[in-house]
Amino acid sequence: MVDVILGLQWGDEGKGKIVDYFASDYDVIARFQGGPNAGHTLYVGPENKKLVLHQIPSGVFHQGTVNLIGNGVVLDPVTLKREADAVAAFGVDLKKNLFISERTNLIVPTHRALDKAAELAKGNEKIGSTLKGIGPAYMDKTGRNALRVGDLLQKNFTTSYIKLRLKHQKLLDNYNFNEDISAWEEEFFEAIEFLKTLNIVNGEYFINDRINKGQKVLAEGAQGSMLDIDFGTFPFVTSSNTISAGVCNGLGVAPQKIREVIGVSKAYCTRVGAGPFPTELEDEVGEKLRKIGNEFGATTGRPRRCGWMDLVALQYACMLNGVTQLVITKADVLDAFEELSICTSYKVNGKETSEIPFQMNNSLIEPQYKSFAGWQLETSQIREEKNLPDAMKSYIDFINKNLTAKVRYISNGPGRDQIVKIQ
Ligand code: IMP
Ligand code: MG
Repeated sequence: MVDVILGLQWGDEGKGKIVDYFASDYDVIARFQGGPNAGHTLYVGPENKKLVLHQIPSGVFHQGTVNLIGNGVVLDPVTLKREADAVAAFGVDLKKNLFISERTNLIVPTHRALDKAAELAKGNEKIGSTLKGIGPAYMDKTGRNALRVGDLLQKNFTTSYIKLRLKHQKLLDNYNFNEDISAWEEEFFEAIEFLKTLNIVNGEYFINDRINKGQKVLAEGAQGSMLDIDFGTFPFVTSSNTISAGVCNGLGVAPQKIREVIGVSKAYCTRVGAGPFPTELEDEVGEKLRKIGNEFGATTGRPRRCGWMDLVALQYACMLNGVTQLVITKADVLDAFEELSICTSYKVNGKETSEIPFQMNNSLIEPQYKSFAGWQLETSQIREEKNLPDAMKSYIDFINKNLTAKVRYISNGPGRDQIVKIQ
C-alpha cells in the first residue's frame, strides 16, 4: 500500500514538514520525481535545528524508516554527498537507511552548465529555473542519452561519461558558454565514489517486495501540481510529472496500490520563478504575506511571489491527483490580516470559468474573489479544532464546499507539533 504526499500549488507548500509529521506511520519513504531543485525544510534534533533537504527523502530522521530515491528522480551526486555530511552530524547513517534505484538518472556537471546556458539564452523569457541541471537531465532521459546510477558500477563508466560530456560540449559551444567547469567535475567524481558506497538497488523490486509484505510506503512529492510538465503552466514548469500519476512511473508501482493522496496547499499562494500566477499580489498585501510567511526560496533564496488562495487552480490539482485529504499549511500567516480573499473563478476574455485555460497568462485572466473577515488572533498555539477562531472555521468551510477534497489538517507553524486535526 502506498500513500502519497504532494504539493497542489507551485511548490513550497510545506510538504517537508507534513512528510516528517506522518513519516513515523510508514516503513518506507520514497522520492519519485524531481531532484535537487526541491528544498524540503525540516527542524531536527533536540534544538530543532533547521535543515533543508534537496535530494534525500524527508524520512531519514525517523528510526526504523528506510528511504528510497526512485527511478523517476534525477540525482546530483554532489548534492547527495553534501547532504549526507549534513545529516551525519545528527547521527544519521545513509549507508543503513537510504536505498537508491539503479534506474535513477544522474545529473552531471554539464547538465548544470547547460541549464545555465539555456536560461541565459532565453533572456526575458527565462523560466527562472533553479539552475540545478533538472531540465537538461530529464532531456537526456527522454533523449535516451542519460547515465544512470546502475552505470556507476560498470567498468566503462568514465568512457560513457566522456562521451556524454562531448555531446554536451557541442551544445555548450553553440550557446557560446565557456565557463570552466573542471572544479565541478572534480567534485562530481569525488561524490561518485561516495555514491558507490551506498545501497544501490533494483528500486521496483525493492518497493514491490515491501508492499507485498504488508509494509507501508509514503511517496514524497517535490515541486507542485502547477509545475507538472504536462498539466502545469507550461512552459514555466519543471521537467517531471509532479502529480500522483508520477508515483507509478517514478517508483514502479501499479496504480491500484495507491491509497491516500494527501494534497498540501498553503492558505495562500506563492510561486518562485517566472510564469503565470493569476492571484499574485504585487502590492503591500503581497509584501506582507512574503514578510510574515518568510517567503524566500529554500533552494535559491529568491523572494517568492505571493497572492491569495486560488480555488480554480486548487480544484484542478484535486482533480488531477485524486486528492483524498487536504492539508492547509501556514494558516497562521493570515493571523494579522483584517481582510482575506479567495479566488473562486476566473474571467477569461470577459467570460467566467472555473477551469484552467490552455493559455495561462496573467494579463488574460481576471480572478474573481470572495472576501472574508480575518480572524486577527494569534493561532499558532492552537492544537484543537474547537479552539480555532470562528472566522478561520468559515474560511475552511468555504474551501471544503468548493473542492472535491476535504481539509483534514491545518498547519499553524513550522514546529512538528503545530498542527490541528480537522474532523
Ligand atoms: P527547474 O525545475 O529548476 O527547471 O525550475 C523550473 C521552475 O520550477 C522554476 O520556476 C523554479 O523556480 C520552479 N521550481 C523547481 N523546483 C521547485 C521547488 O521545489 N519549489 C518551488 N519551485 C520550484
Ligand atoms: Mg520547497
